[in-house]
Amino acid sequence: MKFSQIIGVGSYVPPRVWTNQDLTALMDTSDEWIQQRTGIKQRHWVDQDSGTCSSDLGLEAAKKAIENAGIEKEQIDMICFATLSPDHVFPGTACFFQAKLGVPGIPALDIRQQCSGFIYALSVADQFIKTGAAKTVLVVGAETHSRALEKNTNGRDIAVLFGDGAGAVVLRAAEGSKDANTSHILSTHLHADGRFAKELWLEEPSMARAGDWMQVKKMTGEQFPKMNGKAVFVNAVRRMTEVLNEAIDANDLKLVDIDLFIVHQANQRINEAVAKAMGIPEEKVFNTIDRFGNTTAATIPIGFDEAVKAGKLKKGMLVASAAFGSGFTWASTIIRW
Ligand code: UT7
Repeated sequence: MKFSQIIGVGSYVPPRVWTNQDLTALMDTSDEWIQQRTGIKQRHWVDQDSGTCSSDLGLEAAKKAIENAGIEKEQIDMICFATLSPDHVFPGTACFFQAKLGVPGIPALDIRQQCSGFIYALSVADQFIKTGAAKTVLVVGAETHSRALEKNTNGRDIAVLFGDGAGAVVLRAAEGSKDANTSHILSTHLHADGRFAKELWLEEPSMARAGDWMQVKKMTGEQFPKMNGKAVFVNAVRRMTEVLNEAIDANDLKLVDIDLFIVHQANQRINEAVAKAMGIPEEKVFNTIDRFGNTTAATIPIGFDEAVKAGKLKKGMLVASAAFGSGFTWASTIIRW
């Protein structure tokens, strides 16, 4: 029976830091409001005039993950690239990324499940490995939110939340028997409920109304993301709790067996509510939101990399992750690191 092991991890954020205080120059907000409501202190944004995009950030993270795995890039036989901020509408960002990495010919798949995108991508990669269709899969989550946010008072409820960045892991097929300490992905659980698609979405450009898909002159903010913050908050707490419990039960584990929780970083208060609902002790939760904000599909792999660097995530540990976001989509995974 084949199974997937994570053999390398890496992450990258652009150098420019925007503190909450910096944002007050763009919109009516305050460090106090942002910290109290979200736990965010700063985020990294790309140089707004540079043309830096998600494939660029993904490339930097991927190079580190490949180096960390100790493999040559030529050994990779598939790419799964998760993003909600693609370089172009088409082709997929995975193709631009693949060309930049310099690995032509291998399948390059875009995963567009927003905040749950990385776990969806990990799941796809895991299935390809289990069936023997792939041996070494590069899974990337990358976002360049900052260039598509409404960075003024109108868009402040969303603009203050999101950061740019990327993270990547290398998955490799292993075979044979595994004991309790063998590194592997135990499970992935994926969900979606499209009835809530418009609670967090980007309305334009659109094929879902009459006329040309891009109507620049008519746009009065529809080209920026919109969110029903309270509905997203409530559902995030509910669904992340559910999907973590689903994963723990499916693996015949107990909460105490999980060494570390690295969950999506949309709002510190969401994560505190999930931890409270499940009874997870504070020291078992690894958060990065204060430094990076919400980096959507990049959040989980950035969390893995940061936790490894901080000495919190070590070989042999059981780590549980969950994410929730636009779609609505939600997902979880449990990994023996
Ligand atoms: O990645 C997955 C997707 N995202 C999420 O999971 C986010 C989920 N939602 C949230 O995290 C929270 O709903 C927010 C952080 C977005 C908002 O927090 P809230 O406690 O729900 O605030 P609110 O929307 O009820 O707004 C309270 C007040 C409003 O003013 P009034 O109407 O009370 O006068 C807003 O206009 O705060 C105002 N406000 C701000 N003030 C300063 C909204 N954004 C800002 C801001 N700075 N950036």
